[in-house]
Amino acid sequence: MFSQQKLKTLLKISFFISVITKVNSEGKINCKITRDYLHANCSHRQLNEVPTDLPKTLLSLDLTGNNIEVLSNNSFKHLTLLQNIIIDNNRLLNIESMAFTGLGRLHKLSLVNNNLTYDYETFPVDVFQPLKMLKKLNIYGNKCFENESTHYPDVSFSFLTSLEHLTIDLCKYPIFGKGFKDLHNLKKLEFKQCYLKRLENDTLKVFSGVILELHMTQCLDIDTTVEYGSLEGMERLSVLNMENTRISLPSALRLLYGIQNNLMKIVNFYQVSDQNFFREGKRFAVILTKSMTIYLMKMCIKNLNIGNNGIVEYEKDSLFGFKHAGCLEHFYFSENRFVILNGWGSNEFFQFFTKAKKLRELNFSYMPWKFTRYDNTFNISSSKLVNVFLPCPENLHTINISHVLADANLHYNGTLIGCNTLSVIDFSYTTFEDLYFDFHG
Ligand SMILES: *[C@@H]1O[C@H](CO)[C@@H](O)[C@H](O)[C@H]1NC(C)=O
Ligand SMILES: *[C@@H]1O[C@H](CO)[C@@H](O)[C@H](O)[C@H]1NC(C)=O
Ligand SMILES: *[C@@H]1O[C@H](CO)[C@@H](O)[C@H](O)[C@H]1NC(C)=O
Ligand SMILES: *[C@@H]1O[C@H](CO)[C@@H](O)[C@H](O)[C@H]1NC(C)=O
Ligand SMILES: *[C@@H]1O[C@H](CO)[C@@H](O)[C@H](O)[C@H]1NC(C)=O
Ligand SMILES: *[C@@H]1O[C@H](CO)[C@@H](O)[C@H](O)[C@H]1NC(C)=O
Ligand SMILES: *[C@@H]1O[C@H](CO)[C@@H](O)[C@H](O)[C@H]1NC(C)=O
Ligand SMILES: *[C@@H]1O[C@H](CO)[C@@H](O)[C@H](O)[C@H]1NC(C)=O
Ligand SMILES: *[C@@H]1O[C@H](CO)[C@@H](O)[C@H](O)[C@H]1NC(C)=O
Repeated sequence: MFSQQKLKTLLKISFFISVITKVNSEGKINCKITRDYLHANCSHRQLNEVPTDLPKTLLSLDLTGNNIEVLSNNSFKHLTLLQNIIIDNNRLLNIESMAFTGLGRLHKLSLVNNNLTYDYETFPVDVFQPLKMLKKLNIYGNKCFENESTHYPDVSFSFLTSLEHLTIDLCKYPIFGKGFKDLHNLKKLEFKQCYLKRLENDTLKVFSGVILELHMTQCLDIDTTVEYGSLEGMERLSVLNMENTRISLPSALRLLYGIQNNLMKIVNFYQVSDQNFFREGKRFAVILTKSMTIYLMKMCIKNLNIGNNGIVEYEKDSLFGFKHAGCLEHFYFSENRFVILNGWGSNEFFQFFTKAKKLRELNFSYMPWKFTRYDNTFNISSSKLVNVFLPCPENLHTINISHVLADANLHYNGTLIGCNTLSVIDFSYTTFEDLYFDFHG
């Protein structure tokens, strides 16, 4: 005799089998559906539209890599529990205005790499209206207007009042209208595929006051004459990632004007200078001056990356003269070409090191300063070593000074005291000669 429980299970199993069979017999859909009917994977199945007979219980639906051109009205009408939809790498040209009807619980929507144009024809005004709970929208890899302004359909986007994370193309001449102001919950604005030509005071104004994170990476065609008020009003910004956005280091540093009083978790200016600057009469080599870094030196920053920017020299107080050195935890200035431990520079650096009490990682690898000639003309033992005693920052974990080509003219015998947490110190491929460090603790 079956217990009721067993009977239920049996019924469930037979139901499961019948559904799978039905889908298979149609020979069309063949989505991979999990046994609990919660997740359907319909990726790479040459679908031209959203399948119509998917289980109502679905929480997630993956339609990556199909041939869907139009998201028709009511495509998801019966899939009201869906939380996550992925329609990447299709041929989407058009979204009908009722396409997302019923998706009041959707959290994540991804439409990456399609053929969508940023206008009202593609994104009808009320198309996003049903998506009241949408937190994450991923829509980069679509079509920007090339030689004219792209006026993003801001009214359509204005319905996404729960949105926290938007990933979108940054077109050549973008206009972000007032509708974006309604995205009160937007925390992270991430531009992928950047065609931006000019960064101006007004370009991102509509997002200011709201966003915590701005990721604007890989803008390779951007003009170096950015307006320095462009980040003004971004009072809540704590992550600024401009890696590989070629505005030049001096311009990048000037941008900090607008956020000079912010507490920053990350400022990433890795390779914002372009070795092809010569084309614009700009130089790759940068001599940091005090006025260039006036905002940087004022700021409290946890993670700072100014690697690979052609820095060849720096003035006093322009690089290690942080007012809030105590904020820094990770400091990268690898792949530049300047000398640190020389003359006043050493003193400044040692002072910085003493003040940077939260420092966890210091990375100045890959710095070619000068080749050492190993021809015995230089008499090492004749130079007098200077003893330096430095307290270790409490949490210092890694010092990376690998691949530094320096001359042998460094006469330091440093003693680092209290390095309890230091676990990595990498001096590999580095040619210092007269430099000794003892570690105590
Ligand atoms: C769907 O299946 C494809 C191929 O098997 C896989 O790469 C993808 O990660 C799956 N999607 C999800 C959401 O698990
Ligand atoms: C989709 O719905 C909208 C709004 O009801 C309507 O204007 C439009 O004609 C519909 N599209 C199609 C192809 O039926
Ligand atoms: C995208 O649209 C353009 C014309 O606007 C067309 O040439 C291209 O083939 C389309 N791409 C896809 C993947 O449909
Ligand atoms: C945009 O302008 C460039 C240079 O003038 C031209 O080569 C290109 O064909 C234009 N693109 C479009 C879509 O008009
Ligand atoms: C941009 O903003 C800065 C700082 O507020 C201001 O000095 C400058 O005049 C502005 N530029 C333009 C073109 O409005
Ligand atoms: C040091 O910086 C280099 C270049 O910027 C990077 O490749 C490397 O991963 C960094 N090392 C550590 C330990 O983070
Ligand atoms: C130091 O940085 C170099 C690259 O700059 C990297 O290859 C190496 O792994 C790093 N060392 C450690 C110990 O992380
Ligand atoms: C190096 O300097 C020491 C001490 O000043 C001296 O005795 C020695 O002869 C010098 N060696 C050479 C090769 O000049
Ligand atoms: C460096 O200084 C320490 C401590 O004063 C001393 O013990 C050590 O011998 C010195 N090393 C060199 C190479 O002079």
